[in-house]
Amino acid sequence: MPPLHSSLLQTLKSETRPHHERAERVVRLMEPGLTPAGYRCHLEALYGLYLPLESLLAARLAGRFPELRLPERWKLPLLEVDLRSFGHDEASLARLPRLPYPPPLHGEPEALGALYVLEGATLGGQLLLRHLTRHFEGLPVGGFAFFRAYGEAVGPMWKAFGEALTRACPEPALAPRVVRGAQDTFEAFEAWLREVHADAPSHL
Ligand code: HEM
Repeated sequence: MPPLHSSLLQTLKSETRPHHERAERVVRLMEPGLTPAGYRCHLEALYGLYLPLESLLAARLAGRFPELRLPERWKLPLLEVDLRSFGHDEASLARLPRLPYPPPLHGEPEALGALYVLEGATLGGQLLLRHLTRHFEGLPVGGFAFFRAYGEAVGPMWKAFGEALTRACPEPALAPRVVRGAQDTFEAFEAWLREVHADAPSHL
């Protein structure tokens, strides 16, 4: 049996590699023709995804694993900041469409897998942040709070997450359930983004 800590993270990475490739393809933020409206549309889609997902994660994990530092990791407040700079308010945020069927995160292991996906997304988010900052230079598109995430602390927060994940799920027999939760979350992300793109006007 390989060492537990690296093994769970490595397993998650290798078992979700194709999922990550598909997720990258539905994120259209690197397209040269991206407009502020297209970026806003992406943030709105993320809002509709993170709202049900983070509340499910809170229900499964909050208070159970303090070392995960969940309150510092929630992205919904950051999405709200970005969307408010596009003119959204409480009422319009409440009207945004939400992911109708969140992934079935039946228990803690599955929820930890989902958290792995959301935390990992902050890593790729740094690449997107650099791109978007250049792409929209001088335009009023807000301060990229979501993609900025933990700022300078993105690396340390990822490392801390890896360590906390190991402590939260030390039982190797549970690894397949963690992987399932991660895969289901990637799939929910991809399906939701596809649906939103299909509904979006073509100029976005
Ligand atoms: C265009 C979009 C994306 C790009 C360019 C991208 C790029 C990257 C890069 C470069 C890394 C490695 C970063 C590092 O090790 O420091 C990474 C990791 C990761 N990304 Fe993405 N990503 C994108 C979208 C996403 C999305 C939408 C999700 C989730 C829904 C996601 C989930 C992850 C996860 C879980 C990891 C951690 C992999 C691991 O090391 O275990 N990514 N991404």
